[in-house]
Amino acid sequence: MLDSDLALLAGHAARLRQRHLRDLIAEPSRSVRYQHRVGPLLIDFSRQKIDDDALAALGEIVEKARWTEARDTMFRGEPINTSENRAVLHTALRASESQLPALAPRDVLAEIDAAQQRMESLVDAIHGGTDGGIGLATGITDVVNLGIGGSDLGPRLAVEALGAFALGKVRCHFLPNVDGHRTAALMRTLDPRRTLVLLVSKSFSTEETLLNGHLLREWLRDAYAGDHADADRHFVAVSANVDAARAFGVPAERVLPMWDFVGGRYSVWSAAGLVVALALGMPGFRALLRGAAAMDDHFRSAAWHANLPVLLALVGAWNRNAQGCASRAVVPYLDSLAELPAYLQQLEMESLGKSVTPDGAPVAQATVPVVWGNVGTNAQHAFFQALHQGTDVVPVEFVGVVRASHGLRENHEALLANLLAQGAALALGRTREEALAEARGGSDAERETLAAQRTFPGDRPSTTILLDELTPESLGMLLALHEHAVLVQSLLWNVNAFDQWGVELGKTLAKAIRPALTGTEANGLDAATRALVAAIRIARSRGVS
Ligand code: F6P
Repeated sequence: MLDSDLALLAGHAARLRQRHLRDLIAEPSRSVRYQHRVGPLLIDFSRQKIDDDALAALGEIVEKARWTEARDTMFRGEPINTSENRAVLHTALRASESQLPALAPRDVLAEIDAAQQRMESLVDAIHGGTDGGIGLATGITDVVNLGIGGSDLGPRLAVEALGAFALGKVRCHFLPNVDGHRTAALMRTLDPRRTLVLLVSKSFSTEETLLNGHLLREWLRDAYAGDHADADRHFVAVSANVDAARAFGVPAERVLPMWDFVGGRYSVWSAAGLVVALALGMPGFRALLRGAAAMDDHFRSAAWHANLPVLLALVGAWNRNAQGCASRAVVPYLDSLAELPAYLQQLEMESLGKSVTPDGAPVAQATVPVVWGNVGTNAQHAFFQALHQGTDVVPVEFVGVVRASHGLRENHEALLANLLAQGAALALGRTREEALAEARGGSDAERETLAAQRTFPGDRPSTTILLDELTPESLGMLLALHEHAVLVQSLLWNVNAFDQWGVELGKTLAKAIRPALTGTEANGLDAATRALVAAIRIARSRGVS
């Protein structure tokens, strides 16, 4: 944003400081003006500390940033990821389900279509217990998705969220981390001859995934008394690096493609979502794509003031840049959406956690807030105290579903009532007078003291997202909503949302440190790391392995 934009927003924020959210909420028709719906997804911004004038200013800023042009440039597949000279075409993965003409290049759409057909045959083969004509192991009951970051978070979220739609043909397990405890537990509990391993890695160079891949390969080979060919039939790879997957031992016919034009954190719609298709069946996976495509169509056609991703992005930028909020909490009121905060953490923080522009200049304003959260109501009994009465204001995104997929009516009503209550409590608060009126017994001074501690400042913003039901379509819409909000924020903040150079340094250092842990060589390490390595070695020499 320009300095003048920031000054404009600061002016609106200063004006709004004179008004409590309690008064804003009471304005006639506010809830109608600040509530929007696209299909099964409703979003309510009425509890944001914003008014029509401030929103209009944000609208001017985003229009000036030529967001429609940037949006179409992305959909057309121009190389907007400039630091890697790559197109950004995750939307092409769901273009087949869109109601609007596709903008992506035809050859890309044809490649995607061919990949989806291969994915479908693979799913049919595994569900049908055949080798699919590509040498797959048969009789598979369990699938291990081996991948991390985008190769794990989106697929895991979708499988867990959509458990009610699972066909029950296979059990799905996820192994993202290099922590051997989980790897060992899976090897202990699964039957290797009935397990299929999906090696999901766009680069096929991610240490965690390859390390676990080698371990599971040994485990499978042991189960076949060293017969490599039979053991290797239990592997399918999903990667943009077919050569590396082949070098690992997965033949090309069992490698499904990923592409440079789909970032890892945007890849659940690709074959990286194979585990989702195995859980739900290909029609269920296509329904997920359909939901995302419906949000794409909305993003491509609605004006900014009725455009959900744009509004979500603007409200986020308002909280970050005009209200100075350094974090935002995501609280889904549904256990099956427990992975949503982690998914959004990667989507937003890996995309927007930048402090230089694509030209290498420092950005003009703060960029991504820290994204964190947990499921409600659990979160109410953990960190909501700080949200209500702590010194920092943390905007909250509440996510709920109107109709549950179970018949336990009372539970669901309690869940929804809590969701609504928390947003109300954050916004309205409780005045000192109200707290005082409730304080009983003791002297006036004691009642004052107690009332001070039982006062809630309120005036704390939140957004409420309600899905009619949690279905593949509505989940697809929810994820695409956030993807597009990220694109819009990247324009406002002038950062490249599609690279992630910031994760590289740590990876390189880990490689340098490993030999120091196992051997005696600790040269080239900084003093702090050297001291920690020494402490680990001493602990080991005392018998801690
Ligand atoms: O470390 C960051 C990252 O590159 C993410 O962007 C990506 O989702 C993850 O690692 C996994 O990468 P890959 O799919 O190449 O194994």
